[in-house]
Amino acid sequence: MGWVSLSYPATRITHISVNMDIKEELIKLKKDALEDVKKIVDPDAYKELYAKYLGRKGELARLAKGMKNIAESERPSVGILVNDVKMALESALEDAKNTILGSFPDTGDSVFDITLPGNKVNVGGLHPITSFIWEIEDTFRELGFGVVDGPEVESEWYNFDALNAPSWHPSRDMQDTFHVKTDKEEKMVMRTQTSPVQIRAMETYGAPIKIIVPGRVYRNEEMDARHEATFWQVEGLVVDKGISISHLLGTMNYFIDRILGAKTRWRPGYFPFVEPGLEMDIECLLCSDGCRVCKGTGWLEFMGAGMVHPNVLKSAGVDSNVYSGFAFGFGPERLHMLKYGVNDVRLYKSGDLRFLEQF
Ligand code: DAH
Repeated sequence: MGWVSLSYPATRITHISVNMDIKEELIKLKKDALEDVKKIVDPDAYKELYAKYLGRKGELARLAKGMKNIAESERPSVGILVNDVKMALESALEDAKNTILGSFPDTGDSVFDITLPGNKVNVGGLHPITSFIWEIEDTFRELGFGVVDGPEVESEWYNFDALNAPSWHPSRDMQDTFHVKTDKEEKMVMRTQTSPVQIRAMETYGAPIKIIVPGRVYRNEEMDARHEATFWQVEGLVVDKGISISHLLGTMNYFIDRILGAKTRWRPGYFPFVEPGLEMDIECLLCSDGCRVCKGTGWLEFMGAGMVHPNVLKSAGVDSNVYSGFAFGFGPERLHMLKYGVNDVRLYKSGDLRFLEQF
């Protein structure tokens, strides 16, 4: 190598010359090696070239050893170059290895280690809310309920008016609505609740009827640990002769007992489509004596319900002198949070596998 024979007295000049040499050598090494790698045709050639350039006694190691003889100030730039050459060679050799791997049988002493673990393949699964809704559906099916669907872009008539909430009704302000522009004459919204499917189902199937309606709903909500703008609801409707409030209490108490095994309490509540209206609270399972989630009360608001308002039956063409019914609506995400102690509803749509894989 050039630096051995240099005899200039000025060390500074010596160093420059030395470093020029080592840099040039590195660049040449890279060029030659990449040319050589292109010619690899079998595992033996690969092994030979690997040893020649990247082995412990290989060319690169030999050049790198010269580092200790160069000026301190020059070392970083030479170091970067050594690394660059090393990475380029490693990657080219790796590519060559992968290319010939397919074309040569494994002879036992090949460079390919068949005992290395393979790449992990992640298996997909159902979203926790999907499987939970299936569980809810199964529980209601056992009680004789059918499962019904409805549109997510809904007319104001079905979403509000037919549910006893005409345009002047203050309850319309309870739900911040996303309005949708369409070429239809009817005013359309993203449904704020699954309740409109009560009307659609009664129009289609008439009475008696016993259904649940799981589905997505949309509200222009401020998002926080308990609220999202897109969320799930499960609506329920039972209409028959002689249905009373005790059918509602019995059915829903049984449901919560089955799915959660928690205590419940009922309070009066207001919804325009039921009279009387009720709300069910569930005991807070996250704490024993009041926490942030239950705001220190020990109870969590869970569900709206009540006896179907005669105006609603009328909108759907069902005779309220003959039939009566009960209805309810709840959020399965809220129920899932309670069941599994999840403290932030936003986790469900986070796509975070560390969360999702737990279920
Ligand atoms: N639709 C109501 C809401 O989104 C929930 C609800 C309350 C549904 C009472 C009902 C009911 O069927 O009877 O807040």
